[in-house]
Amino acid sequence: MQYGYFDDKEREYVITCPDTPAPWVNYLGSPEYGAIISNNAGGYSFAKSGANGRILRYVFNQFDEPGRYIYIRDNLSKDYWSASWQPVGKNLTRYKSECRHGMAYTKMRALYAGISSEVLYYVPLDAAHEVWAVAVRNDSDVVRELTVTGYAEFTNNPNYEQDQVNLQYSQFITRTEFENDHILQLIHGNLDAVAANGKEVDNKDVGYRLFGLAGQRVSGYCGNKESFLGRYHGYGDPQGVTTGKLDGSMNYNENACGALSAVLVLNPGETAHLAFIVGAKNREESRALMARYADPAAVCPEELAALKAHWHTRLENFQIHTPSAEMNSMINTWNAYNCFMTFTWSRAASLIYCGLRNGYGYRDTVQDIQGVIHLAPEQAAEKIRFMLSAQVDNGGGLPLVKFTHNPGHEDTPDDPSYVQETGHPAYRADDALWLFPTVYKYLAETGNLAFLDEVIPYANKGAATVYEHLQRAIDFSLEHLGPHGMPAGLYADWNDCLRLGAEGESSFVAFQLVLALRIQKQLAEEKGDAAAAEKLAKQLADFSALVEKLCWNEDRYIRGFTEKGEVIGRRTDPEANLWLNPQSWAVISGLADSEKAETILHTVQEGLNTEYGVMLMQPPYHAHAFDGALAVIYNAGVKENAGIFSQSQGWIILAEALCGHGNRAFSYYKANSPAEQNGCAEIRKLEPYCYGQFTEGKDSPHFGRSHVHWLTGTASTMMVGAVEGILGVRPDLHGLRLSPSIPAAWDGFTMEKSFRGKKLHITVQNPAHKESGFTSLMLNGAAMPDNYIPADKLAAENEIVLTM
Ligand code: GLC
Repeated sequence: MQYGYFDDKEREYVITCPDTPAPWVNYLGSPEYGAIISNNAGGYSFAKSGANGRILRYVFNQFDEPGRYIYIRDNLSKDYWSASWQPVGKNLTRYKSECRHGMAYTKMRALYAGISSEVLYYVPLDAAHEVWAVAVRNDSDVVRELTVTGYAEFTNNPNYEQDQVNLQYSQFITRTEFENDHILQLIHGNLDAVAANGKEVDNKDVGYRLFGLAGQRVSGYCGNKESFLGRYHGYGDPQGVTTGKLDGSMNYNENACGALSAVLVLNPGETAHLAFIVGAKNREESRALMARYADPAAVCPEELAALKAHWHTRLENFQIHTPSAEMNSMINTWNAYNCFMTFTWSRAASLIYCGLRNGYGYRDTVQDIQGVIHLAPEQAAEKIRFMLSAQVDNGGGLPLVKFTHNPGHEDTPDDPSYVQETGHPAYRADDALWLFPTVYKYLAETGNLAFLDEVIPYANKGAATVYEHLQRAIDFSLEHLGPHGMPAGLYADWNDCLRLGAEGESSFVAFQLVLALRIQKQLAEEKGDAAAAEKLAKQLADFSALVEKLCWNEDRYIRGFTEKGEVIGRRTDPEANLWLNPQSWAVISGLADSEKAETILHTVQEGLNTEYGVMLMQPPYHAHAFDGALAVIYNAGVKENAGIFSQSQGWIILAEALCGHGNRAFSYYKANSPAEQNGCAEIRKLEPYCYGQFTEGKDSPHFGRSHVHWLTGTASTMMVGAVEGILGVRPDLHGLRLSPSIPAAWDGFTMEKSFRGKKLHITVQNPAHKESGFTSLMLNGAAMPDNYIPADKLAAENEIVLTM
């Protein structure tokens, strides 16, 4: 079933059937003020921190309520509905709606009973409040009197969890006030005198939240949730709407809300404009903000235009036109946008991540950065610096980097205080090794080799150049080797469900280390550090030979060794005998020779591929899990226990593409692409425009259903798999190599790319219908010796033609 379509020109996904199989959401705002909104207006808002700055309440895992509701009531017929289909949920034969999720804004249109409404939800650029701009038009041929009511449900406590569970406290710190055109909620309002006296008490700051109505005179107001809804009523039939009257009551204890009404008398064809404003604003700030929106019909379109310009300009830095409309929608808009969301929000806030993770996961964020380097390299560099400053001076990464991270002054997993505060008991084996592909991509995209000499503090103490930081990451792995001489698995490697421990060993980390040594050697050569380059070359050769010897098993690479020395992932094991990541990483790291690469990729296709993507391993753990195989706690076919782990799709795509297997790379790409599943939403369930963490594998009765929307490393990994892999855009330190691995059926494709301040217009022609390889490359009319473009040969504008 299909519930909507991609409007590529507007960069919007348009939901035409509102009864989607799950809430399909969008992100608004920035870390100053963030908001999540579903196609039925469900969702929440927060200032600065999803964990401790919650403003609008949302009840998780409970059918997408409450939300940013706007009710419309016809005062003659007394019929009422909502501007989003839910919460009133009118019969869809009479209620027509459209939800357009765009780049950081969402529009809801509805047509019911001769009245059309359009609500634009957004957070203005660089602002810390949200706007619900409403236009209501009378499409009938008689005069209509309507009451429009906006409803915002505040949390009592800015900490989401406290709001939900600590009711003997949180219910008694809240109260609301009405003033002219807005409701103010005060949290700890009684502390105003104490704070003024300068006394020390916990939470002495009074918290303020605003809900305002601009553009029309307020005809009714209510600041108390129970009065608005009415006991034994719900969001679908609130008393404040059904009766046509808000009772003016304020909250003092229990639950606050903001509800504000305006009465509109509309002639046929007439439109009225108003706007609801939400934010964490004190009295003066609220008055000023309300004044700004006095004429919403003038202000809101301008703010929307600025928002669109900001987003669309960033995305323009890389655009493709391939024969696959779905791939175009994803790479040009939705996957890119998804990458910015993971880059910005990490795993902090979605409808699944409830906001309690108050920091960046080291590996997650370092990987997330990769997804935006080609679009916003300097923004990426800022985050790389930040993550380098969260590397401990022993080379390991802090498993969780707090949002309040203070470089040079942080505790580490070696300190009980860090463990207590973050819940992360030990280092993970892979964290800092992700820096290599990420830093390399930044250097290659920008050519900014001076970055290597920038001095950046360590998390705990001391400082070093970026180049030295990278060397320490290698040292960390070399100082944590297991009995066979491979990197120890420690508390986890990429796979959170593998506890291999200090005496167990991980092949995945071994492959990461191979790649790290290869990159560091290249950087040493670049810097003229001959001694280091020589040492790294020897380490690379020796270590590669060791890994090859230890990890090859018949037609696959194993997953590692347990603390007891058992081998995981041998062909003959009863469970978990074939793992995806070691195969893709054997190729990505450059370890597997071409014969072995062909073998393992074939093994993967035979043993792990499905119509919805490639499973993480097979068969799932059930009766033969070793002590550290935590994946066994999950149902079979789910998550790390043989689910189709979406992030890993990007790596197998990249591996196939590096081997020139365009057909297979693209078929894997399609299988797990959200846009490709637009027509089977009843199976996928998740949004068809963003990635999820995993899809249920063939061992699940719900094969094909996807979960954990938006905030997943899949976004960046897929971006890299598609752009570097399939489309073959492979910058290196001195230029750009073009090596597409595409479906042989394609006639070609074009791309526009910004690269080191220059514009590239790239045409790939495929007259012989090859899946990889090239016969010629022309740069501005001149033939190049191979498929490489040295950066110094580029003009401001460049016409590039690659013939396959
Ligand atoms: C989740 C985690 C990520 C981990 C992956 C595999 O996506 O966020 O850190 O690598 O699961 O376990």
